[in-house]
Amino acid sequence: MTDYHDILVERPAPGVGLIRLHRPDALNALSRRLMAEVVDAAQAFDADPDIGALVLTGSERAFAAGADIKEMAAAGAVEMLNSGMIESWARLSRVKKPIIAAVAGHCLGGGNELAMMCDILIAAETAKFGQPEINIGVIPGAGGTQRLTRIVGKSLAMEMILNDRRINAQEALAAGLVSRVVAPERLVDEAVELAQQIAARAPVAVQLAKAAVNKAYETSLSEGLEYEKTLFYFLFGTEDQKEGMQAFAEKRAAVWQGR
Ligand code: CAA
Repeated sequence: MTDYHDILVERPAPGVGLIRLHRPDALNALSRRLMAEVVDAAQAFDADPDIGALVLTGSERAFAAGADIKEMAAAGAVEMLNSGMIESWARLSRVKKPIIAAVAGHCLGGGNELAMMCDILIAAETAKFGQPEINIGVIPGAGGTQRLTRIVGKSLAMEMILNDRRINAQEALAAGLVSRVVAPERLVDEAVELAQQIAARAPVAVQLAKAAVNKAYETSLSEGLEYEKTLFYFLFGTEDQKEGMQAFAEKRAAVWQGR
């Protein structure tokens, strides 16, 4: 699928794939079609050897204002169960290359859940994060109660999920939800620069580093340490490990092969 309606796809710099949510009339509400396109584009970049990292962004007004309420409003429980909606979104978290979410404006409900499926979040000063599902009689369904709680802690997650507390970019930074806050006009450039830097690094090590960090959110410390150790040993079977350590000794830049 390359004929997208609700996203724009670009290659703004060497090694970087950019996906821009583009439903301006609906504050990028995450319709089934939009999310299918996001997953399709992300998987295509993941399979492309010329791409090393992805950026996912929205507009200045909204990263995304949540799942498409109008699309879901009349659905019954069995219809939702059989829709596979959440399962299809979750395919994004199986992308192996790093994804940077560049967030400006509203980042609400499923929008915040989508951002949290990414690996690094960068916020514009205008960003507003929230899980307002309680206002429409439901709860977060795409990871909000789980990922947000692990990231920001129970008390703030409870306030956000039970009582629609919205946090601004600085609060998100203090809570560990984002790694940096930038001026709105710099948001996409900073995300692309960061993605380009990561894309220039040893590709297998980057892929396994992402997997190892994400494992920390899914398992016990001892299992996570075992996993990390196994990946660390495994990397000694790559040409890039030999090249990286030899280049260090020879005081020159390494040339990565991705194997
Ligand atoms: N779904 C569908 N349409 C949406 C939408 C959503 N989540 N959010 C905004 N829109 C639409 C509005 O209906 C409006 O369309 P019309 O012009 O056709 O009426 C358009 O986008 C612009 O929105 P507003 O006029 O409301 O803009 P605003 O600046 O006054 O308010 C807002 C902005 C505070 C974000 C408000 O739009 C809002 O509260 N949106 C809903 C947020 C929400 O509840 N998100 C959670 C969704 S449920 C979910 O995500 C479940 C899950 O966990 C998977």
